[in-house]
Amino acid sequence: MKSLKIKTATLTFIVSVFVVSATLVAFTFPNKPWAVPEKFEKMKNPVKSDAGSIADGKTLYGTHCASCHGKKGKGDGSKAAQLETECGDFTTPAFQKETDGAIFYKMTEGRKDMPTFAKKIADESERWAVINYLRTLK
Ligand code: HEC
Repeated sequence: MKSLKIKTATLTFIVSVFVVSATLVAFTFPNKPWAVPEKFEKMKNPVKSDAGSIADGKTLYGTHCASCHGKKGKGDGSKAAQLETECGDFTTPAFQKETDGAIFYKMTEGRKDMPTFAKKIADESERWAVINYLRTLK
């Protein structure tokens, strides 16, 4: 009987540690890590970052992204509060460290509240231009 009690106590302890850490992780990282396939991670942006592509990207951003991600990319757009997941903050070093290819992948595929733009911005070079604009939001 004694050993059974110990086993139950150990099990309860392990379960509690698991629950507590899962909760902590959930609060620290509101969104699950988003795995990017290697092929995209290393993809080069074929659209030159110049005044023209940044201006195009800005217009597209205003039409398709700002409602959630906010005018300045801080994740505070008018729709953001109604979403289950946080939009993230494009001005942070953590975001700016992501490769163009990784951003391209996320923006093309989408995930949950984040829509897919494969069709809404069907022209790939326009999606790359949006990334050139995102780089100015630091
Ligand atoms: C309806 C709201 C909504 C719109 C519109 C939207 N997003 Fe998002 N976006 C989100 C949410 C929510 C997340 C977080 C998703 C997650 O992590 O599961 C996100 C995540 C992202 C990420 C990943 C951020 C990171 O930290 O890696 C990128 C990149 C992104 N969005 C780009 C865009 C671009 C570019 C547009 C416009 C072309 C756009 N989004 C439009 C809601 C939106």
